[in-house]
Amino acid sequence: MLPFRKHVFVCTNSKPDDDGCCAARGSEQVLQKLRAEISARKLQKEIHVTACGSLGTCGHGPNMVVHPDGTWYSGVNVSDIAEIVEQHLVSGKVVERLAWLDHEKLHQTIAENRAKSQAKRAG
Ligand code: FES
Repeated sequence: MLPFRKHVFVCTNSKPDDDGCCAARGSEQVLQKLRAEISARKLQKEIHVTACGSLGTCGHGPNMVVHPDGTWYSGVNVSDIAEIVEQHLVSGKVVERLAWLDHEKLHQTIAENRAKSQAKRAG
């Protein structure tokens, strides 16, 4: 048995020189709203929420991943949280309009972001 039914990772990564990062797109507010919603529904023992670093889908944020489902969400706003909690975390149905349903495209996006970051570091 898993310690939590769901574990949600919310990227709060900040890139000071990049307004495409999740922090610049309001991920801290999304994280706080998610925690408040989980707490209000007394789901803390079932659903764990963790802030995390970049998930690699930068520029599409705020981004989050729900495990163990392996569902990746992008463009999540504070106003989407109640729906994600009710529909996905409680009822088990992915909120498709915010999810990466095309896994090949997800892989490609992450690879492109990785290449961009590496090029930036290389100068
Ligand atoms: S900054 Fe959030 S996914 Fe990269």
